[in-house]
Amino acid sequence: MNIKSAKFVKSSAKYIECPEDGLPEYAFIGRSNVGKSSLINRLVGVKTLAKTSQTPGKTQLINHFVVNDKWYLVDLPGYGFAKASQTQRTGFGKMIQNYILQRKELSCLFVLIDLRLEPQKIDLSFLQFLGEKEIPFAICFTKADKLSNNQINSNLARYYGTLLETWEELPMNFLTSAEDGRGREDVLAYIAEMNEDLLTA
Ligand code: GTP
Ligand code: MG
Repeated sequence: MNIKSAKFVKSSAKYIECPEDGLPEYAFIGRSNVGKSSLINRLVGVKTLAKTSQTPGKTQLINHFVVNDKWYLVDLPGYGFAKASQTQRTGFGKMIQNYILQRKELSCLFVLIDLRLEPQKIDLSFLQFLGEKEIPFAICFTKADKLSNNQINSNLARYYGTLLETWEELPMNFLTSAEDGRGREDVLAYIAEMNEDLLTA
């Protein structure tokens, strides 16, 4: 897909404050510091669009960016942030839950998972929650540039094994790096496909 434009639209504290023009949206979620904002920037090719930081907890609101004036990329706050309150840490936060469960424009939630770590309970239970609520999602494994090809293969195999303990089929998943751009074309093609399906539905 060709990215002609990408613009910040607004930050919202609640899902009811989100844009009301009905354009489809693709939101990015995952543990704090996993690389959500960085991946969004890589997808659109603008390094400074979404704010990134080495300090976890940078993104605090629901941030809408309109792409090609046709669809939104949405940068969400992270979950599992060690300095957040206990409820924010374990409950994924009310803001996030309300957004995920109520936002009709949400076409697909991209769940970002750091491939360097062994499967984390909080990510697995978050995926479980999405399955139970029938929320369409895809996984993006992040920071692939920090691993060798051998490590990538063995960590992917480990993750797939864990997923298949609870999922009948592997969820859609992508290997990505905001650093070297790996996975960018695949994620954009997947979004383009979903946009097409929405237009013809
Ligand atoms: P919060 O908004 O705090 O939840 O974090 P986030 O998930 O948006 O992470 P962010 O994009 O701010 O990135 C966190 C840190 O990881 C930054 O220092 C990024 O430069 C780094 N980072 C993100 N993606 C990658 C990647 O693909 N490769 C490498 N090497 N570093 C990355
Ligand atoms: Mg962020």
